[in-house]
Amino acid sequence: MKNIKFGEPLIHLTSVDSTNDYATQLLNKEMVKEGTVILADHQLKGKGQGGNQWTSEPGSNLLFSAIFRPDFLRADKQYYLSMCVANAIADFLSDFSENIAIKWPNDILIDGRKIAGILIENTIMGEFLLTTVAGIGLNVNQDSFPAGIPDAVSLKMITGKQYHLLKLLNQLLEKLSHSVNLLCENRIGIIRTTYLNYLYGLNEWRHFGDSRGDFEGRITDVADSGELLVLKRNGEIAGYGFREISFYMNSGRL
Ligand code: BTN
Repeated sequence: MKNIKFGEPLIHLTSVDSTNDYATQLLNKEMVKEGTVILADHQLKGKGQGGNQWTSEPGSNLLFSAIFRPDFLRADKQYYLSMCVANAIADFLSDFSENIAIKWPNDILIDGRKIAGILIENTIMGEFLLTTVAGIGLNVNQDSFPAGIPDAVSLKMITGKQYHLLKLLNQLLEKLSHSVNLLCENRIGIIRTTYLNYLYGLNEWRHFGDSRGDFEGRITDVADSGELLVLKRNGEIAGYGFREISFYMNSGRL
């Protein structure tokens, strides 16, 4: 059975377009060791989900991508990787603060404000995964965010403390290794339970929006496929993919 240790080796770059793209180029070029992490002080073209940009003050935050070869994982179960990465960040942040939540699919929130984002890019061979690049942006020492990024927050803004980025990275990579090794051991039950325990809005009646308009619903579960399952007031359970549902948060519709 695999025992992955993320961060061995660690490639530390001062500046790069995107650590995810760098990792993908490396995978295309050579036999990259599983567990390799690419860390950057600054990204010129940081990528967010759904074609968005990920912007970050140079030198203030953690921006990295971890390389993994989950060749045992069926492509239709690839969402478990997202769960593992989100769980690792949530567990890591729980050592610093209360009120940590995972907003489906995988934004990490503290007190309802976004502190970290995840961008996972997989390659697939037949029915199984071949390679995974798990990109993580975690706001650490940034003091404020541009008006265009509503409700972003950093660890420093929450705790009032300045952090040593490499020390934090090592702690986070330990959580990531532990969490991903659970998947290697096929311990799906504990991965799901942890994810659902952190899931923002689970079992609470809330306002949502979908292509048919606004409605009241209650998140009941997340399917193996990654679809968010929402019970509506009329008793129907609807499954949603990425970008098919929006949440009403304090800051408005997200
Ligand atoms: C999101 O919430 O939209 C996902 C953001 C992911 C950002 C990280 S930063 C390191 C890695 N490299 C990238 O270009 N993106 C991810």
